[in-house]
Amino acid sequence: MPTDERLSDDQLQRIANDLRDNWHTGREVDFEEAIAFHESLPASKQFAQVLESADQPLLQPRAGVPCLEEQIDLLRYLQDEGGADLLPTTIDSYTRDNEYEKAEEGLAASRGSDENELNGFPAVNHGVEDCRRLIRALDAPVEVRHGTPDARLLAMVTLAGGFQSFEGGPISYNIPYTKRHDLATTIEHWQFVDRLCGAYTERGVTINREPFGPLTGTLVPPSIAIAVMLVEGELAATQGVRSLTLGYGQVGNLVQDVAALRALRKLGNEYLRDEVTVTTVFHEWMGGFPPDEARANGVISLGGATAAVAQPDKVITKSAQEFQGVPTKEANAAGLRTTRQLIDMMIEQDIDLGGIDEEQALIERETRALMDAIYEAGDGDVAQGVINAFDSGALDVPFAPSDAAKGAVLPARDDDGRVRIFEFADLALPDDIKEIHAARLGERAETEGRDQSFRMVADDVDAISDGKLIGRPSGDNSPTGGASDAD
Ligand code: 5AD
Repeated sequence: MPTDERLSDDQLQRIANDLRDNWHTGREVDFEEAIAFHESLPASKQFAQVLESADQPLLQPRAGVPCLEEQIDLLRYLQDEGGADLLPTTIDSYTRDNEYEKAEEGLAASRGSDENELNGFPAVNHGVEDCRRLIRALDAPVEVRHGTPDARLLAMVTLAGGFQSFEGGPISYNIPYTKRHDLATTIEHWQFVDRLCGAYTERGVTINREPFGPLTGTLVPPSIAIAVMLVEGELAATQGVRSLTLGYGQVGNLVQDVAALRALRKLGNEYLRDEVTVTTVFHEWMGGFPPDEARANGVISLGGATAAVAQPDKVITKSAQEFQGVPTKEANAAGLRTTRQLIDMMIEQDIDLGGIDEEQALIERETRALMDAIYEAGDGDVAQGVINAFDSGALDVPFAPSDAAKGAVLPARDDDGRVRIFEFADLALPDDIKEIHAARLGERAETEGRDQSFRMVADDVDAISDGKLIGRPSGDNSPTGGASDAD
């Protein structure tokens, strides 16, 4: 079982040498030459510096198509027409599964056709030099965004290729993304990724790391997400990462979202060692979207409004075409501009919302309880602790497909639309906190004249795509508001 210790230079070298043979582009990676490439980039493409020195939330979309020229055109469009401050490169699903042969076939098929035969950019297949062409062709810093449990070769190739930020982590790219990878193995794989980022950082090329905060994207209680961010942050910091962007996915209740983002920033600064610069990223709603694009813009706008109040360092935007899957470049750019409009109109307003401090205190208390349980389960070692805590259910993520988590915790919204816990299973929270959740859910049950049950959970999962926040029984709070006969 891995422990939270820094990999030695020898271990780093040995693993890197083995990985080189997984796909031929691995042999193009030359660390010294990569450092020189990064050093040749202007300050405007240095991810950590741009993010950490910004004075208002920076906007970043998701975007990835198979071919290099199209990827350059797409990112230029999002930069110029969408006003993206930071750019992404979203990696295709075959690469996420380390299926480079299949990615190669998809890339070849896409080259000869107007159709994209992959759902993202296969960076390993493109190799170091094509990644550098991409980085050179753009004006903003670029991040690798993916969902790869074993991202070691992807990191080697893309970091050598000039990318300066890398999304994911051993828990956040395991629990929501895969069934079959065990946590001990994904932790070992990400220790390599983080150590590689640390090695660049020590040479003066700061690589930003961004654990994936939204997890399963479905009604995740804030304290669970924050605890995972702190664990991944600590694991990364041990390996030498010094620029960490901790994430959180919008739940849709304004007060709870603002409180969670404040708690995330505060606890991030408190738990992570002083040498680490902590920033935060807010993901616009990651759950099901309304099919109606006008309504989808409403969801995005609430995200923009929340960001204006909470002021995270970065916002990952959505498009009104979210329901259909990968958006057109026009819809993607429009999502950026919609978010920008909300932020620009609201950011200078002094908005005083009631209840934020109380909600933040609750989230912090819950997160501390989860962190205590993790340290205890590992006798002080966070790597062992998180493995044991997931194993016992002391830490859990709702709706997790992975065998590495019990997925026994169930969330539901309270009468105000805040995400509470309906079924705790073995989650390590004290009784007085459980009582607060139960009381809030009791209020909702009373309002709706029904018992708390799994039905409520299921109704909440669909609510936003159905046009409301809380999954009330139909007839109650109808979203149409009812056309009046008097009209
Ligand atoms: N381009 C743009 N967005 C993408 N997503 C996944 N792949 C791509 C891509 N290639 C988005 C989905 C969803 C989120 C999980 O990632 O549309 O919003």
